[in-house]
Amino acid sequence: MLDISKYFNEAKKSVFLAGKILKKYYLENFKIEYKGTRNPVTAADKNSEKSIIKILGEKFPDIDFLCEESCEEINRRKNGLVWIIDPLDGTVNFIHKLPIFSISLALYDGNKALFGIVYNPISGEFFHAIKNKGAYLNGKKIGVSKINDLKHSLIVTGFPYNYEKRQKSVDEKFREFCRSAEGLRRLGSAAIDLCYVACGRFDAFWEEGLNPWDVAAGAIIVREAGGNVTDFAGRNNYLFGETLVASNLKIHNQMIKITGGKK
Ligand code: IPD
Ligand code: CA
Ligand code: CA
Repeated sequence: MLDISKYFNEAKKSVFLAGKILKKYYLENFKIEYKGTRNPVTAADKNSEKSIIKILGEKFPDIDFLCEESCEEINRRKNGLVWIIDPLDGTVNFIHKLPIFSISLALYDGNKALFGIVYNPISGEFFHAIKNKGAYLNGKKIGVSKINDLKHSLIVTGFPYNYEKRQKSVDEKFREFCRSAEGLRRLGSAAIDLCYVACGRFDAFWEEGLNPWDVAAGAIIVREAGGNVTDFAGRNNYLFGETLVASNLKIHNQMIKITGGKK
């Protein structure tokens, strides 16, 4: 049996250190580069990732990495362990000094999540979940909301950097959710969006054009908090499938009715 706590404790250490790195850059000026027309990256993203990889890579040399800035191409061994890392989720907020961003780190065994961590170093909110052990915010157990009607729900979304490519689908769903929900927000960090569903601040989240590092940690946190996470069609392919719906479970079918599922 795998001793998850040994991996979790080291991961937690690496995330807190990465948080210190992000905080330092946040208070200073930093150079901004662009990976696409509106897909920025800063030294903060890169150094946060480097630091996590160094710590976890030295401690656990046999575990693969799938991370945003330096190792997109995963060297995947079947059913092997893999760290899935977004070293700064919410880079646009970070650049604009909006304190809604996070580090997202998860350990997967193949397609199965073993644990997830999402940490906002500015607010100090540390979310985590370990498989079958529940979800926590700063050590206190959390759970999803109890609302069972989309029209009384506060829901959240995000927009992909390649919006033009997905414009029709994004616009249609946005319009439909505006009509159907009580309120709609866009925070700018998918990992935080998911954690806010997990602790009941939001009742649901949907987005398309996502990458595995945006959602790997938040998804297990939502599930361990009693929520549901699927792709737009209500299936399990949310990690690599680029579409995701997360909810408090009670309104999940109402969500996927709009995103494309038949239920
Ligand atoms: C982005 C954020 C944002 C979401 C985008 C992501 P990044 O990640 O999670 O909320 O709408 O789709 O790419 O680039 O800040 O790591
Ligand atoms: Ca991200
Ligand atoms: Ca990122």
